[in-house]
Amino acid sequence: MIFDLHVTDGAARLGTLDTPHGRVRTPAFMPVGTQAAMKGVHWHEVREAGADIVLSNTYHLMLRPSAERIARLGGLHAFMGWPHPILTDSGGFQVMSLAKLRKVAERGVTFQSHVDGATVELTPERAVEIQRLLGSDIAMQLDECVALPAPPAEIERAMRLSLRWAERCKRAFEEDMPSGRALFGIVQGGDVPDLRRESARALVDLDFQGYAIGGLAVGEPQATMLAMIEEVAPLLPADRPRYLMGVGTPDDLLKGVARGIDMFDCVLPTRNGRHGLAYTRFGPVNLKNARHAEDPRPLDPESPCRVAATVPRAYLHHLIRVDEMLGAMLLSIVNIAYFQTLMQGVRAAIAERRFADHAAAVTEDWSRGDV
Ligand code: GUN
Repeated sequence: MIFDLHVTDGAARLGTLDTPHGRVRTPAFMPVGTQAAMKGVHWHEVREAGADIVLSNTYHLMLRPSAERIARLGGLHAFMGWPHPILTDSGGFQVMSLAKLRKVAERGVTFQSHVDGATVELTPERAVEIQRLLGSDIAMQLDECVALPAPPAEIERAMRLSLRWAERCKRAFEEDMPSGRALFGIVQGGDVPDLRRESARALVDLDFQGYAIGGLAVGEPQATMLAMIEEVAPLLPADRPRYLMGVGTPDDLLKGVARGIDMFDCVLPTRNGRHGLAYTRFGPVNLKNARHAEDPRPLDPESPCRVAATVPRAYLHHLIRVDEMLGAMLLSIVNIAYFQTLMQGVRAAIAERRFADHAAAVTEDWSRGDV
């Protein structure tokens, strides 16, 4: 993987990431295809919406259908029919949120599968092996993410364990991984500035191809998240990509870019789409609302997304009300396209060194509201 930084505008950065499966334009938003599927959306639609890279998950795929089976079928790109870049999360975060009876030890984390109750162990070495078998362009270290609020001693313990796991992941990666692939370290440290700085410095000493900031958007206010980014970003090398994990809302993305973040991922576009919420230039629109029942207008006639520009609100409202899967599918497409269009606008603005004005104009449009 090669990262090139092309333009900076304040702390905002315009770059490209070249991976074995193609180029990613940054700042990038990665839609999430957890189980080797973008829920309800064909891959060609994800591509048409403008996505360069998608995220998938070690945790889910190791349980079903297993990394070994995906490897026998030619790797994740071939298996799911997305020949473009893929980043895989390492499983640490998903074990914490989904698995039952988990036990964190020095060796790794042992848990009961949420699928069939089987006992499974995930070590740093195994997390790297699974991501190698999947064929990820960008693999993540195994880490332990603590939900906030949490006692500082607990945050410190998890941060130090994550650092020791980072070192083991790096060693496993260097022994095993085909060239061209990348491994990112993950900064932890909760809402404690000293721990965040210590984590960032130690990871930089280990020398990763990229650095993620994890353990955020886990229950803390946005101001805390932004303060933690401000602690960490200046300590990270300028020539490596920075990835804010699991974030976020359109407003989080603009504020993250303003603080030097290059990559984001979040389930919001698809999850909220399934629940009847559409993202538009003029803010979120809840299509369950009765005001749309006889509204023949599309969501936004100026959107580059065909669905947002042409499908009547009354029809989307109907589909969501009667729980037709097409409603969830169409709104997921609208939202994936919205997030990609937002990032395209951000990249164009950084290229012309007018990011701050652009972000203010985008925010101003949101505040107008959907009328
Ligand atoms: N996704 C969102 N936050 C995190 C995190 O802290 N660690 C990992 N591995 N994935 C995440």
